[in-house]
Amino acid sequence: MNANELRKKYIDFFKSKGHAQIQGKSLIPDNDPTVLFTTAGMHPLVPYLLGAEHPAGGRLVNFQKCVRTGDIESVGDLSHLTFFEMLGNWSLGDYFKEEAIEMSFEFLTSPKWLNIPVEKLGVTVFAGEEGIPRDEESAAVWKRLGLPSERIAYRPRRDNWWGPAGVTGPCGPDTEMFIDTGKEPCGADCEPGCSCGKWLEIWNDVFMQYNKDASGAYRPLSRTCVDTGMGVERTAAILAGKKSVYDTEIFAPIIQAITVKTGRVYGENEEDDRSIRIIADHVRTAVFIIGDPKAVTPSNVGAGYVLRRLLRRSIRHGKKLGVSGVFLGEIVCMVIETFREPYAELEENRLFILDEIYKEEARFLETLQKGEKEFEKLLPNLLKSPQKTISGRLAFKLYDTYGFPVELTEELARENGLSVDREEFDGAYKKHQEQSRTGAQVFKGGLADHSEITARYHTATHLLQKALKITLGEHVAQKGSNITAERMRFDFSHNSPLTKEELQKVEDIVNEQILRNLPVSMEVMPLEKAKSEGAVALFGEKYEEQVKVYTIGDFSKEVCGGPHAKSTGELGRFKIKKEQSSSSGVRRIRAVLE
Ligand code: SER
Repeated sequence: MNANELRKKYIDFFKSKGHAQIQGKSLIPDNDPTVLFTTAGMHPLVPYLLGAEHPAGGRLVNFQKCVRTGDIESVGDLSHLTFFEMLGNWSLGDYFKEEAIEMSFEFLTSPKWLNIPVEKLGVTVFAGEEGIPRDEESAAVWKRLGLPSERIAYRPRRDNWWGPAGVTGPCGPDTEMFIDTGKEPCGADCEPGCSCGKWLEIWNDVFMQYNKDASGAYRPLSRTCVDTGMGVERTAAILAGKKSVYDTEIFAPIIQAITVKTGRVYGENEEDDRSIRIIADHVRTAVFIIGDPKAVTPSNVGAGYVLRRLLRRSIRHGKKLGVSGVFLGEIVCMVIETFREPYAELEENRLFILDEIYKEEARFLETLQKGEKEFEKLLPNLLKSPQKTISGRLAFKLYDTYGFPVELTEELARENGLSVDREEFDGAYKKHQEQSRTGAQVFKGGLADHSEITARYHTATHLLQKALKITLGEHVAQKGSNITAERMRFDFSHNSPLTKEELQKVEDIVNEQILRNLPVSMEVMPLEKAKSEGAVALFGEKYEEQVKVYTIGDFSKEVCGGPHAKSTGELGRFKIKKEQSSSSGVRRIRAVLE
């Protein structure tokens, strides 16, 4: 079964069980200050898992594009990916453990669906910890469905608890499903969940019961929810009996394009294979990030920096494989071709993606040449030094003077048996950042803070967008938004810097609406109706058929997931702190509520 079939079967199965298919969301999370990318299928659903009503109801299914960059250094092996697709089904206060497990079992084992023999299935359930009881209920359901006790393993919190994805948010015990590869057990206590390679995880049903708050306390959710996640690439590999995700049809054409371009053969030399896999993974991720409706382009901060790092790492591995000059274009085209059906946005943005990647490639080739030359000059002395360590100061100099990323210095160092004093580098980098106030974002960590303060900022964002349209014209459209408990940041299309007068006018308009204490109301309606009523919607963003529309008095109407303040009077005073360019044709405003 290939990935397209798997995706379709999953959606069809859950639709047959009364689930509404919802659109996967952008890779760039809405107003989530603590992560740069959507990291799990549940990510866009956090407000609903915490209690908000979803316009499509209480049973949902979708496939969601995700990016996780925490393990970027491990990419190159047989299993790690920075981009992956997640299939998921959700119960928002509807079914719980019993029905969730029954459906998982049916989908996995029924001849009509994945047809996995029950004898190959093993599961884990939560063993209980810290006052949260052992999950006998899930174990009993698995037993009733035909799993023998020796293939139901009780595992601790470390293994069978999911979330919160960061510091705060929904979480709970889970039950995980594994396929027995048939390998010999690694020892007497080898059981489902063991990492020796005998058991491969394919699905995870999380029973969301708690909200971990900022004080670290677990508060029971107002209603229990189910959040499940199945990785497309991994499951496709397992079902096809492949030992690596890179051996599936998802990657075959991309790897083929890389071998044509580099003249290397995949599967002949482990070092080359590693480089090929790095290029395949990183280019795929880059295409999805740039091709997203909320496109990110390479830069030195936040998501743009991660993207730059992915592209630059691919380029360097291309060089390692003997390519000289620009080479990513055809690989990019092959990624777009492979995913054009489920992700129409890639084809729509084809030229933009190609152009951005070409520009970055050309820029980086120049940097590389200078940086590598410099590194080679330094190498003889470094090799002679007894510590075999490149000081953080030197690594920072390479970065600062030649634009040579520290990750590449580390790679070159490793290849020559050296290491880099990363702590010292990080210190120098941080100091530099503080000085230049570039403020790179945090990209590990948690989910949105849905506190009252962020709700106020969401409402302020709507007021700001409308005020910009009034002041500058109807061409103003939201290009990005990011909210923390301290400030808001709003990117919008406009070609020139705002004058002092324009900024003052925008600020005055927003503050006037705050003083008017306008009520904020929400209505669920079909997207078409929302548009015909003049609600602002993000161009290119995918929406459900039923959407939430937030209306602020007579002033603004926008399609939005919320949450929002109840009335504008709660907002305090709105103050613009900074206006600057974000990228070509896009301006950025930072503002605070005082
Ligand atoms: N949130 C869980 C995961 O990411 C299940 O979807 O595995």
